[in-house]
Amino acid sequence: MSEVLSLDKVEKGFSVGGHRVEPLRGASLSVLQGDYVSIVGPSGSGKSTLLHVLGCLERPDRGVVRVEGTEISSLSDEALSAFRGSVLGFVFQRFHLVDRMSALRNVAMPLDYREDLTPGEKRERALHALTQVGLESHAEHRPRQLSGGQQQRVAIARALAVRPRILLLDEPTGNLDPETGASVMQIIEALQRENPDLAVILVTHDMDLAARAASCYRLEDGGLHRTPAVPEAVR
Ligand SMILES: Nc1ncnc2c1ncn2[C@@H]1O[C@H](COP(=O)(O)OP(=O)(O)OP(=O)(O)O)[C@@H](O)[C@H]1O
Ligand SMILES: [Mg+2]
Repeated sequence: MSEVLSLDKVEKGFSVGGHRVEPLRGASLSVLQGDYVSIVGPSGSGKSTLLHVLGCLERPDRGVVRVEGTEISSLSDEALSAFRGSVLGFVFQRFHLVDRMSALRNVAMPLDYREDLTPGEKRERALHALTQVGLESHAEHRPRQLSGGQQQRVAIARALAVRPRILLLDEPTGNLDPETGASVMQIIEALQRENPDLAVILVTHDMDLAARAASCYRLEDGGLHRTPAVPEAVR
């Protein structure tokens, strides 16, 4: 299996009002085709920051990020957007749905940069993705007309519309009741069974969920450490 995503000694920090935080201080990771990786760690440890760097939404301060062998520092912002729209599916911790747009339009958004697809194909893909999460009948709803769980599923459909080879999920069940959360994970795991090359990287606070992944890492002291994920029930 070939490597689809890697971080090599990545550092990323922020300065706000003279105060400096450095959540990533030498984080390294290698993800292969078909991998199912979970990442856990305390609140504020940098999990979302890590996922944003993995998803090419933010550039690291130092270190190397490679997606399918391409070092992302070599790409312009425009090339990076195009790359994201064809390879990476991203589910944000806080959904980031655009409220003035319908669910369907939100789902089609990552395809905006795709010149290889006609408007009709983009619409068809978006509808198919909404169907995958059971929301085809809500295509014309605005986000605020949807429940939290439905918004989460729209956010997942938006990632699926890309037909990604790498799927990055930031707390995809964090806002859901256990039953809806379980159905969301079933959708994702079914997708991986249908597409065995799909790499899934899941950030979660839920140790039961983390334990479902083939490998689990803890983000601590700015670095990633391989750890056995122990489900709550056997602790
Ligand atoms: N855009 C930003 N500007 C300034 N500081 C930021 C920014 N993004 C993250 N941080 C800071 O980086 C640190 C890590 O934040 P991050 O959101 O990555 O944590 P997290 O592990 O995802 O937490 P949680 O489990 O609560 O979602 C925090 O101290 C946060 O304040
Ligand atoms: Mg987070």
